[in-house]
Amino acid sequence: MSEDKNKQVSRRQFLNYTLTGVGGFMAAGMLAPMVRFAIDPVLQPEAGGDFVSAEIAEEDITTEPQRVTFKVEQVDAWYESTVEKVAWVYKQEDGSIIALDPTCTHLGCIVGWDSNEDHPDHFYCPCHGGLYTKDGVNVPNTPPTAPLSVYEQKIENGILYLGKSIPREEA
Ligand code: FES
Repeated sequence: MSEDKNKQVSRRQFLNYTLTGVGGFMAAGMLAPMVRFAIDPVLQPEAGGDFVSAEIAEEDITTEPQRVTFKVEQVDAWYESTVEKVAWVYKQEDGSIIALDPTCTHLGCIVGWDSNEDHPDHFYCPCHGGLYTKDGVNVPNTPPTAPLSVYEQKIENGILYLGKSIPREEA
């Protein structure tokens, strides 16, 4: 009889078990969405590796750098937006295509081709006078310390597609 009594759950124990269980269940219910919200961007597949049409035919690309624009979907944590990017595209001596990222490697201004009359046939950065040769290599003794980055690129059905901007080693 007294053994049976020991096995019984007292009212206090019952309340403790019940409150602990309900409290734990509610805490899990509140925390799960927060954890999911916090790590959601990490779980998303990376979108940056996709190629986007630059809407220029391979045959229209000459040895003279041309400014082309293309749009990419950008995900900043939870914010998705469409961003217009610029590339300077031309055919090199061997006929291969190069697509330069115009972001100056000094402090990020946008360079232009042949845009300064004192520096013809160069990429020129208007912010601090940065200079790059046609292949995007920075001219010594100007502010930039690295060449312009190069976009990944491929030709599909005769059209140029651009991908990620890949930094190059310092000259
Ligand atoms: S940002 Fe281009 S030279 Fe400074």
